[in-house]
Amino acid sequence: MERTLSIIKPDGVGRGLIGEVVKRLEANDLTVKAMKMIRMSTTQAQGFYAVHKDRPFFGSLTEFMTSGPCVVMVLEGENAIERYRTLMGATNFKEAAEGTIRKDFATDIEKNVVHGSDAPETARFEIGYFFNSLEIVA
Ligand code: CMP
Repeated sequence: MERTLSIIKPDGVGRGLIGEVVKRLEANDLTVKAMKMIRMSTTQAQGFYAVHKDRPFFGSLTEFMTSGPCVVMVLEGENAIERYRTLMGATNFKEAAEGTIRKDFATDIEKNVVHGSDAPETARFEIGYFFNSLEIVA
């Protein structure tokens, strides 16, 4: 069993896609072990995406991620990191496979509806960034 962090981004929440995303997760045996709605501050968004701090899109990304509420979730399942990334589709929705969340709903490379951890170490950091152990069901 593996855990990963999922974020439904402000575009997904604002467009009423929470239920659609959660439906796809549950239909694919990714179990929600923790879930909350948050509105990130600029400092929180900068900390979360610190790995991208030197990228040209960093300012725009952190501005977007603070523009409205996000839903953050801990997902659990066999090979959860990779399987959730497959469900999301490529970061750039133009390259995303048919039937993926980003192919179906993303509107640009930044407003791509969802985020998912890309590796076990990243998942540990990202889950710990938003949740303490008491908030994740056993
Ligand atoms: P995410 O999976 O949350 O990780 C970093 C985010 O930066 C990415 O999804 C996009 O929302 C955003 N982003 C904006 N421009 C780019 C870009 N050129 N390459 C990668 N990510 C980008």
